[in-house]
Amino acid sequence: MTENRKEINNQIPNDLSSFWMPFSANRQFKKSPRMFVAAKDMHYISADGRLILDGTAGLWCVNAGHCRPKITKAIQQQAQELDYAPAFQMGHPKAFQLANKLADLAPADLNNVFFTNSGSESVETALKIALAYHRVRGEGSRFRLIGRERGYHGVNFGGTSVGGIMPNRKMFGTLLTGVDHIAHTHLPQKNAFSKGQPEYGAHLADELERIIALHDASTIAALIIEPVAGSTGVLIPPKNYLQRLREICTKHGILLIFDEVITGFGRLGAPFAADYFDVIPDIMITAKGLTNGVIPMGAVFVKSEIYNAFMRGDEHLIEFMHGYTYSGNPMAAATALATLETYKEEGLLTRAADLADYWQEALHSLKDAPFVIDIRNIGLIGAIELEPIKNMPTKRAFSAFIKAYENGLLIRTTGDIIALSPPLIIEKNQIDEIVDGLRKILHEVE
Ligand SMILES: Cc1ncc(COP(=O)(O)O)c(C=O)c1O
Repeated sequence: MTENRKEINNQIPNDLSSFWMPFSANRQFKKSPRMFVAAKDMHYISADGRLILDGTAGLWCVNAGHCRPKITKAIQQQAQELDYAPAFQMGHPKAFQLANKLADLAPADLNNVFFTNSGSESVETALKIALAYHRVRGEGSRFRLIGRERGYHGVNFGGTSVGGIMPNRKMFGTLLTGVDHIAHTHLPQKNAFSKGQPEYGAHLADELERIIALHDASTIAALIIEPVAGSTGVLIPPKNYLQRLREICTKHGILLIFDEVITGFGRLGAPFAADYFDVIPDIMITAKGLTNGVIPMGAVFVKSEIYNAFMRGDEHLIEFMHGYTYSGNPMAAATALATLETYKEEGLLTRAADLADYWQEALHSLKDAPFVIDIRNIGLIGAIELEPIKNMPTKRAFSAFIKAYENGLLIRTTGDIIALSPPLIIEKNQIDEIVDGLRKILHEVE
C-alpha cells in the first residue's frame, strides 16, 4: 500500500481553491489540508505517509473495512460487463437480485425495496411514499410529517425540514410546511454515563400524543426518527421508548419511518436497529453500509401492504411518479451484492454484538479523562461529550479531532461531542488503540 506513496504525493494539487467542500471548515482545511491517499482494512494513509486508524468507518459507512477484495473485484467486473441500464421502464438482473436479498435480510414484511443514491435521497423517497400511500388509500388529509428535535435526515428539503439540528436549518428559510417535531431524548442530568440504553425517558414518546392532540391524527402521515440518533452526537433511545412510539403510531394510523442510514447493516450487532430493538417500522431508510460506502446507493424498504396499495389502476400506467436516473444502477447493485456477501462470509452483521461489551468498558474507562461530561454507547457506536470552552462551542472537540489526526486516529466530532463508529472488522487491540489515543489527546487539548 505504501510503495506508491511518492507517486501519490505528486498528485496532490497545489491549488485547493475551487472545491467547495461539504460540511467542512473550508478556510481552515485549505490552510492546513488533511488528505487521504490510500486505505486498507482498518486504516487510511495520509498524504504525508502516515497510517491513520479509522475510528469512524469513513463517515459511518465503511462497515467491512477499506478496499475489500470482493467488492473491488465486483466493481471491476461490472464496469466491463454492463456499465449502465436505464432505470425507468427497463431493468437489469442485479437490481432485482439485490432487492430480493435485501428483502430476505430485512425484518418482518419489509419486502419491497426502492433504490436511491444516498441517505438524503432515501429520506425524500420515504417521505414521498408516506404521503402518496395515504393519498392512494383515500386519506389525502394526512399531509403532516413529524420529526424529532436533534434528528438528522440528510440535507434535501424534506430531510432538512423533518430534521432537528438547528444550524442545519437556520440558513434555509421556512422549509416544508406542515412539519412538527417531538422532543429529543437527551437527558444528561438523569442519564449521563449510561451504558447502553438509558433507563429514564420512555415517557418522552408521549410527546407524539401531544402533537396528535394539537393537529389531529387525521392530518398526520408519518413520524420519522433515527432509532439511534447519530449525527447529532449519538443519542441512544431510552428503554421502551421506541416500543411506545410504535404503539402510538399504530393506534393512530401514522406510518413509522426508521432512518437506519447509520444503524443499518450491522452497526448495533444485528442487521438493522429494527431487529436489535425488536420494533418494526412501516418504512426503513438505508444507505451508507449498503455498499460499504464505496459506490453511492440507498435503499428504502417498505411493508408489502404499502407497495401493494400502489399497485392499482391500468397496468400500463406508472404507479409511483418518483425515481432517479441512477436508482439501482448496475455498478451500485454489483457493489451492494459483493458487500452483502462480504458481510455474510465474515459474520459482520452480528459481529458488533460480540464486541459491544468490550467496546463499552473501553470507552467508559475514559470517564475520568479531562473535560469528559458524558459517555454513551450501543453496539459499535460511541460518543464522548466534552465540556465546551466558554463562549466557543465546538472548539474543544475540533481541537481534539485535529490532534487525533496528527496522532494517527480518525474520529468525528459534532458540537463538542466525539462520535465513534469503527469498521465492524475492528479487533480488540485496535479498540484499545482508539481509547488510549483519545486519553492522550484529551490530556493535550485545552
Ligand atoms: C440518519 C441519517 N440520515 C440521512 C443521512 C444522509 O445521508 P447522505 O449523506 O448519504 O445523503 C445521514 C448521513 O449521515 C444520516 O446519518
